[in-house]
Amino acid sequence: PKVAAVIVAAGSGSRFGGSPKQYRYLDGLPIVRAAIATFASHENIDHIQPVIRSGDSEIFARSLSGIETLPAVPGGATRQASVRAGLEALAALKPDIVLVHDAARPFATAELITNAIAAAQTFGAAVPGLQVVDTVKVVGEDDLVIDTPDRSRLRTVQTPQAFRFAPLLDAHRRAADEGRDGFTDDSALAEWAGLRVNIFEGERSNVKITTPDDLPDSRASKAALTD
Ligand code: C5P
Repeated sequence: PKVAAVIVAAGSGSRFGGSPKQYRYLDGLPIVRAAIATFASHENIDHIQPVIRSGDSEIFARSLSGIETLPAVPGGATRQASVRAGLEALAALKPDIVLVHDAARPFATAELITNAIAAAQTFGAAVPGLQVVDTVKVVGEDDLVIDTPDRSRLRTVQTPQAFRFAPLLDAHRRAADEGRDGFTDDSALAEWAGLRVNIFEGERSNVKITTPDDLPDSRASKAALTD
């Protein structure tokens, strides 16, 4: 199949001290470069469509130098809008499968990408997930516990999330037309649109860097995380 990847890097980093974390260096590489490099060197990925903030063209080009992608397109006010922009930019290329990945996840492996593509071919929509290790509570606005869901049925999900391209683009267009702009991942949007979504095994190391404290080995990695 023809496989494309949308890499969303248009966040503002508001929970990371207000600077776009995707351009910080981690272990000697810009985070966004590490996130994209794994897709760029993967033998089954045909196109990479980055989505960036419109003011970030130069820093993005500098961060990526030497890695080939499609020209970056500007994102939107929400992650959902940024993904949509990437999908629309890919529409003319008519990929069979699209992977959507956060630029803030630099540790996803080639194997995870391979598994995502395979699961999307089988199920149409597939996302990597992990068993929840903590017990999870549903709370009310008064901070009182409403419910304790059965932990064995819960998964936390990551990216890359993989889909047949045409149904995902349709779902995004429909959501936008209907004013549904609050989906925090593409799986939730796909579920809303009625697609069946498979969960395959994610990777514990595939963390999303949201605040400096999210780094895997906080002491060593915080030292390596520089401007
Ligand atoms: O904010 P959050 O950590 O959920 O962002 C996940 C990914 O989505 C990040 O890579 C971020 O750059 C991207 N994003 C985006 N456009 C937005 C918000 C987030 O591309 N408006």
